[in-house]
Amino acid sequence: MKIVSINNIIVFGVLILSVLCSFTNTTSSFEGGKRYYDSVCKCYVEKTFYNGNLLSVQQFVDSDYWIKTGVTVYFFENGDTSDLTSYQDGEMNGFSFHRHKNRKIAFEGNYKNSFPVGNWKYFDEEGFLVSEIIYESENPTELNADIRLEKFYGSGGKLFYTKSFSSADSFLLNVIDTTLYNSLLQKQANRTGRDIFMAICTSCHNPLKDATGPKLAGVTKRRTEKWLRSWISNSSKMIAEGDKQALALYNKWGKTSMTAFPLADAEMNKLIDYLKSIE
Ligand code: HEC
Repeated sequence: MKIVSINNIIVFGVLILSVLCSFTNTTSSFEGGKRYYDSVCKCYVEKTFYNGNLLSVQQFVDSDYWIKTGVTVYFFENGDTSDLTSYQDGEMNGFSFHRHKNRKIAFEGNYKNSFPVGNWKYFDEEGFLVSEIIYESENPTELNADIRLEKFYGSGGKLFYTKSFSSADSFLLNVIDTTLYNSLLQKQANRTGRDIFMAICTSCHNPLKDATGPKLAGVTKRRTEKWLRSWISNSSKMIAEGDKQALALYNKWGKTSMTAFPLADAEMNKLIDYLKSIE
């Protein structure tokens, strides 16, 4: 008689166990992740994995995995938190932050009903405050959410210019230190497309794999250049205007909004050329 090997017994045991677990936890798996009900948070949890590492944990109030609650957390490969956003009733409500690759905070602030509120702070990779955005309304709506004061700091924490917005795209520029401001313009003129991408996009995008936002390699084949320019300048506007591709993306990515980047034409051209180069 053939002796049943210990390996077979273990494999068989694990199979039985996982079948039992899937009955008790109602865990369901999908490509790259799993979902289950968690009795501690009394909510539904979805975990995604990349190359065997935990990539994200999201919590939902409903078994359709649609209305978010609690926190949505993304992780670096070693398990450190890369970003966190609080949710209530399916809207972003509460604290949110993103980290640079070196784990220092890139930006942090609060949301109310998915609109940014209060004081948002942006830091460079060394941890120095680079800019602050102060949202004026405590009860933001479509009409007043864009009213804000932006403050920009140079090295040594010196405030050198501010922009005060009365709507999404109309602002008053106040230059406090002309020398610093002109040297910033000069530096910006010298930036390559890759520099721009590294400075403002990598907190959410990895060119080669999905992160907080989708991977961007090949994006210039998926989208027209006109669409990309308008998306990068102000994606929320496209979503609000009902652009089909924009809406599909927004829904697919758990209704997380991408920051608006109203770049000058020269900067936008360089950024688009860079995106083309990472096909
Ligand atoms: C705060 C996080 C964040 C930052 C910063 C960010 N993005 Fe995004 N991006 C997203 C998310 C999330 C999506 C998915 C759509 C959505 O939910 O709005 C997205 C979608 C996109 C898309 C559409 C991808 C596709 O498959 O069509 C492009 C293009 C894009 N981003 C480019 C950029 C560029 C270029 C920058 C830097 C200028 C940038 N993003 C900065 C979060 C971000």
